[in-house]
Amino acid sequence: MNYKDGTACKSPPVVLIKDTSGMTWNGDKDDISLYGTPKEEMIPGLSEAKVPSFMRSQIEALFQPSDNKLAMKLFGSKKALMNERLRQKESGLLIIHPCSTFRFYWDLCMLLLLVANLIVLPVAISFFNDDLSTRWIAFNCLSDTIFLLDIAVNFRTGIMNPDLPEQVILDPKLIARTYMRSWFFLDLISSIPLDYIFLIFNQDFGENFQILHAGRALRILRFAKMLSLLRLLRLSRLVRYVSQWEEVYMHSLATFSDKRGFIGFLTRIPGAKKFLNMANVFMKIFNLICMMLLIGHWSGCLQFLVPMLQGFPANSWVAINELQESEWFEQYSWSLFKAMSHMLCIGYGRFPPQSLTDMWLTLLSMISGATCYALFLGHTTNLIQSLDSSRRQYREKLKQVEEYMAYRKLPRDLRVRIGDYFEHRYQGKFFNEDTILDELSERLREDVINYNCRALVASVPFFANADTDFVNSIVTRLKYEVFQPGDIIIKEGTIGNKMFFIQEGIVDIVMINGDVATSLSDGSYFGEICLLTNARRVASVRAETYCNLFSLSVEHFNAVLDMYPLMRRTMESIAAERLNKIGKNPSIVCPERDLQCDLRAVSELLTLSAQSPSEDSESEISIFRSRQLQEIGLKRPKSESCFSRFTNNGTELNVLRVDPSLQRSETFFQSVAAGLAAAHEASHTTHQ
Ligand code: CMP
Repeated sequence: MNYKDGTACKSPPVVLIKDTSGMTWNGDKDDISLYGTPKEEMIPGLSEAKVPSFMRSQIEALFQPSDNKLAMKLFGSKKALMNERLRQKESGLLIIHPCSTFRFYWDLCMLLLLVANLIVLPVAISFFNDDLSTRWIAFNCLSDTIFLLDIAVNFRTGIMNPDLPEQVILDPKLIARTYMRSWFFLDLISSIPLDYIFLIFNQDFGENFQILHAGRALRILRFAKMLSLLRLLRLSRLVRYVSQWEEVYMHSLATFSDKRGFIGFLTRIPGAKKFLNMANVFMKIFNLICMMLLIGHWSGCLQFLVPMLQGFPANSWVAINELQESEWFEQYSWSLFKAMSHMLCIGYGRFPPQSLTDMWLTLLSMISGATCYALFLGHTTNLIQSLDSSRRQYREKLKQVEEYMAYRKLPRDLRVRIGDYFEHRYQGKFFNEDTILDELSERLREDVINYNCRALVASVPFFANADTDFVNSIVTRLKYEVFQPGDIIIKEGTIGNKMFFIQEGIVDIVMINGDVATSLSDGSYFGEICLLTNARRVASVRAETYCNLFSLSVEHFNAVLDMYPLMRRTMESIAAERLNKIGKNPSIVCPERDLQCDLRAVSELLTLSAQSPSEDSESEISIFRSRQLQEIGLKRPKSESCFSRFTNNGTELNVLRVDPSLQRSETFFQSVAAGLAAAHEASHTTHQ
């Protein structure tokens, strides 16, 4: 085996390596089977048999990309993740991968510290006037140190390449250059304790010129306060971290890509997906509310800070409210109330502004409040609308249709029918199904269509007994259509360009004289004769109830039946029988000789039957007049039982009840033969 540099190496020792996910794998075996990673690349340096110390390997594992959601989203597969681990190892010591466990917990801690800072800092700056208590200094020192450490960590953390997100920048020099060019200065300014540095310098200076500069100490302290406001620039980090978390973790919550753990468990509970989807939206709204409250909090602090820096002039709102000497919490409460009143455009607080500064402050908080409010409303409306977009689309569509009907001044009954049609066809939700299916891969599209048509396939005997490939090729070409009661689906004498399968509903086959020859229902099909013969429609077909049909165009019909000639024969035989029943010449679909031969074959099979049930199937045709049936509350007619299945207990062989001339396909013959065999066997067992 050769390494990239060409040095030959002996077979490496077997080393068990534990990755960050806790997965143990064998450096010598299984690597290809598990991840497909070439052995040469597995563990650089293994040939020297250097086994890293326990501590070192633990630290390295901590810095490596773990198989968390962010990593899986970026790299897509475990194999790619393993390659990324190798790349990270090669990039040098103490390089932290952005998808590592360490970075995850570090970001989490930083997030908490940031929130604490952004809430506590403005209060401390504004209300704890010249108070430099030890607790405050300790808090500031600790957080400043951690934020400085964060900068150091950022210098060692890989950066997502904006052009190639899956290609993380891991080269230390490149990381440093990219970080320096982006957030470094903002992070630095917001982390260096400029206020303390300034105070320390001024302490020496102030001591020397104490007499000359009486009263200057206060100004210095105020300036230090202004400098400490720079810490609020840490907001940029908060926004960065929150958006990264939101993108990765809330996205995976919404798409349920992680099927393990609690989320995985939740997704298996009925209705839980909808709940999680809503939780995702409400989390986003909650984020917005938190952001608004934070800005309100800052604005409140600012309301107090400015008069405080001015030394509370008599016409400032603090002096008017006599709050100069009050408790900090009272001062804060009034400030927040004032800021919120401006921001929500409710009023000016207790009193309108009296001084110019107050007026400008009010103006500022009004503008920021109104902007936030508008953004909040827009975002929230968007989020809530996205909760049920299909229902919203349906309502919009219906509104448009209503406007169209009014514009065209359509008669009332037509409007009612159109409304009913919409309700029945879309059932309150509107999807552009074709576009959705077009965007799927071919395999997925087929699976979805097959799933959608499962009820049809199960109910159409023609499909139930057919080859699965044949069924697949038909169902993927079907188009869903809905007809209302009374609709003429097919008109006799016209040229047809499609046939229909009935998923649900009843249709009447109407002759030229207006007589109903038969009724067909769930699982039947019609309109095929015209496609088989290339002639005109032999009868009219009228919807008796709401009919959910699937249509198949003539091109697709021919394309599929050309591939399955046996199915064409089956269809032809049924078509011949149908023509026979309505008194038309069956030979237009197939030659007389074929028909005779098939009829003979079926008759022979039937005479073989030992116990043919005596009660004959009454022709389903004449007995079904749907309207009458509905009136007297009888069940809807069953579809033609051309391919009825039989039970093998020998007592009920539905297939034998069928008019013998109906069938002649090979499928049918096989079915009959099998049925008869089963019947014979059953009858022998009973006799014995
Ligand atoms: P087609 O001629 O294309 O259009 C009218 C359809 O009515 C016809 O195809 C058959 O599918 C159907 N049809 C005609 N007669 C019968 C019958 N006796 N039983 C069931 N369906 C029929």
